[in-house]
Amino acid sequence: MNTQNPTTDAAASNLAGRRIVLGLTGSVACYKAAQLCRALVRAGAAVQPVMTEGACRFIAPATLQALSGRAVFVSQWDTRPADGMAHIQLGRAADAIVVAPASADFIAQLAQGRGAELLALLCLARPAERVALLLAPAMNRQMWAHPATQRNVAQVQADGALLLGVAHGAQACGESGDGRMLEAADLLEEVIAHFTPKWLRGQRVLVTAGPTFEAIDPVRGITNLSSGKMGFAIARAAREAGAQVTLVAGPVQLPTPRGVARLDVTSASQMHQCCLDCAGAADIFIATAAVADWRPEQVAAHKIKKTPGGKPPLLSFVECPDILADLAQSARARAGQLYCVGFAAESENLLANAQAKRARKGVPLMVGNLGPATFGRDDNALILVDENGVAELARASKRLLARQLVAEIARRVGAAGAAPEARR
Ligand code: C5P
Repeated sequence: MNTQNPTTDAAASNLAGRRIVLGLTGSVACYKAAQLCRALVRAGAAVQPVMTEGACRFIAPATLQALSGRAVFVSQWDTRPADGMAHIQLGRAADAIVVAPASADFIAQLAQGRGAELLALLCLARPAERVALLLAPAMNRQMWAHPATQRNVAQVQADGALLLGVAHGAQACGESGDGRMLEAADLLEEVIAHFTPKWLRGQRVLVTAGPTFEAIDPVRGITNLSSGKMGFAIARAAREAGAQVTLVAGPVQLPTPRGVARLDVTSASQMHQCCLDCAGAADIFIATAAVADWRPEQVAAHKIKKTPGGKPPLLSFVECPDILADLAQSARARAGQLYCVGFAAESENLLANAQAKRARKGVPLMVGNLGPATFGRDDNALILVDENGVAELARASKRLLARQLVAEIARRVGAAGAAPEARR
């Protein structure tokens, strides 16, 4: 789970001020709903829990009350709303209803338009054109695979619900298969994605991230300082904005953003080949990786030994392929079918260096940042250099900057989803 502080979480997400009804139905996965509730609140959302009687058998309402800061609703006969109509009022006061976990029986109720309990009633009564219904199913693999469940799932989707999918793996019953509820962190990403304007819908985005590692011998090598955080944040933001994203990652220990296809590589040559292989099916290329400029000419077959009194080895280097320059010169880029974005990590004269690099690499957009002020950090500040001059993105979390950068790129490529009002 996210371990950043709440202020940073809220600033980095687009959930600040969003009103979310978090519905829980009877499933052992209710414990993950507690984590989701906390994550949503930390991301700035106002969460109103609503539980079925079945959910109350798995987790106490007091837990959800404490985590959300709101009294939990269970019964349709709750007298707190002045007009006694909790099933109407709660839905009207929400931006989205997220049911996690959604049991097989609850999905069946939805499919039939039944309202045996408050939660099903309020899903039925929600103003569907304004209040989305997101479902995170949780059940045994046989229940999930049953034709009745699959029929019901198809029906609720046809009726406008958004299905967040299920995970595969060990289940509480001891079996293993499809039907586990997604983890709270995955669900949080899905809720954030739901609220993200689809600036890049229909676009295919290729991103490189992290350092490369150039071997000297089987146990040593040279590399660059790069955590990969900025590139991973960009991949994530592009996917949230509706793009189909491929992330080519150097050696980093970062979790793959949800919904992103990740290809791991080690060296600059591997990253180069991988990007060449993928670029034919990309519309936008964002080169965030800190690729090594040189690699040792020879890679020793065995560890180079240190001998008493011996001289240090003399290494000679050859230049690594320049991935960005190569793709920027490709036929597709020159035909305007591949929009290339470079990154310039500098230690001084940021603007002049970024401008020079933009010209040298032949890319329409160069993003500049000061290396020592960003390496390994969760925040950054960027300048955007293009044919029109320079724009600044003020210091903020990499998550927020990535979102802003994606909006800027979408505007420049004239992506269908890039409406001017989407820039915020
Ligand atoms: O030449 P320099 O490394 O300063 O350029 C930085 C930009 O070029 C970044 O976008 C980086 O990802 C990309 N690059 C590349 N292949 C290289 C070197 C840099 O794609 N071999």
